[in-house]
Amino acid sequence: MGIPQHGQSAADILQTLAAYKQHDMAWQDGRVLGYIYSAGKEAEELIKQAFTLYLSENALDPTTFPSALQLEKEIARMTADLLRGDEQVVGNVSTGGTESIMLAVKTARDWARAERGIERPEMILSQTAHAAFHKAAHYLGVKPVVVPFHPDTYQADVTAMRAAITPNAILLVASAPNYSHGIVDPVPQIAALAAEHNLLCHVDACIGGFQLAFMRQLGYAVPDFDFTVPGVTSISIDVHKYGYSAKGASVILHRSKELRRYQIFSCLSTTAYAIINPTVLSTKSGGPLAAAWAVLHYFGQEGYQRIVREVTEAAQRMMAGINQMADLRVLGRPDMCIFAVESDTLNVFQLADVMRGKGWYLQPQFSADPLRPNIHITVNHSTVPHVDAFLQDLAAGVAETKQLEPLDMAVVKSQIDGLLASLPPEETAASLYALAGITGSELPEETAFINAVLNVLPKPLAEKLLREYFNDLYV
Ligand SMILES: Cc1ncc(COP(=O)(O)O)c(C=O)c1O
Repeated sequence: MGIPQHGQSAADILQTLAAYKQHDMAWQDGRVLGYIYSAGKEAEELIKQAFTLYLSENALDPTTFPSALQLEKEIARMTADLLRGDEQVVGNVSTGGTESIMLAVKTARDWARAERGIERPEMILSQTAHAAFHKAAHYLGVKPVVVPFHPDTYQADVTAMRAAITPNAILLVASAPNYSHGIVDPVPQIAALAAEHNLLCHVDACIGGFQLAFMRQLGYAVPDFDFTVPGVTSISIDVHKYGYSAKGASVILHRSKELRRYQIFSCLSTTAYAIINPTVLSTKSGGPLAAAWAVLHYFGQEGYQRIVREVTEAAQRMMAGINQMADLRVLGRPDMCIFAVESDTLNVFQLADVMRGKGWYLQPQFSADPLRPNIHITVNHSTVPHVDAFLQDLAAGVAETKQLEPLDMAVVKSQIDGLLASLPPEETAASLYALAGITGSELPEETAFINAVLNVLPKPLAEKLLREYFNDLYV
């Protein structure tokens, strides 16, 4: 396929683009319980208008587009204030949680190199911390030292973190909350441990920053996680999650300019213009900035409080309803509106497929000793009107799943073990694809068996397989 020889009409192009979406899940119905944060049509209209107003402005250069600088400073200040930072707290808007986390890790790496002479940096994080930290480690040459989570609370195990600190340690990570179970780590203890050892402490509030801060304002019991906690040196908070803005907006906040200095990159070593980048990207649309700024002003604190109350109540009803079902159980005590569900009596990967058939997206999560496979649920404002429908469909989904041929992980594991023992490594991927029913570059319809295979494979092999699969998929 090449670029079309002749240009097409705008109407035809838009029609084709709309048609391309036909196999996407209809998130507008509030049934995609992950990936989506939507707070209603009116806000979405404003977001679109604000985004397109700044679509072509290039936030790369604040001297040419001072409006982008102003928007970014104001968004950073508003989020710093929400997280109770003082006037010393500074921040930048990045394209998402992953980029904010990469910037926090880069800051720690370069701070530790400059201030403490550390050349082989290590960061210590719980197994429940987001994959973005592993990605940052991979890109930035920082060693991730992963410690187990507490098996009863799913919180980071601070004793294990303490034991993992070596002279090369630069950064301790806390999640507020972790994505998988929606549970906030003991941030005050982790931050105090960091301070005790002269380390930086990043709080990943990418998903929780907005929701938890407004829950606290509303009087819900919320664990301490923000800049009022001594020892916290940076926080990431995503406006494109529970800030309900367009995708492409997160904020990385630092306790001070002295720390943020290590985030910024400059380059005069080429024949071209001076590059000075506080974030990873150079050229970037002003759209996400304008949309984020707009939505913060549209809702205001009162609007967010209303949304947060409704979402919190909806999530609590969903969790209570699930815990009343004999076959399902919410894991731990989630702190906000995201949570995980497991079962003793059925395969949750099959349940996720059955629910998909009913129009609901629930996200499979793999086992992580002592955790068994489970499914993750993110409740956002568009889910609020559908709580009863969800609980009804889930009860029906459980009954239907129990009628299916059971998918026994132990059987899958013995099949895989047999395959791995009998095959030369170069044939492993093709045979695993065949076993899982994956063909070439197709997207799978049913995922339960594929997830079961991935769940029992050794993790490095499963990761390699997924890389190969995506290498084929994007051809
Ligand atoms: C706790 C947490 N951290 C980081 C991220 C990564 O954010 P993004 O997908 O915007 O890069 C997520 C995404 O869900 C998250 O939940």
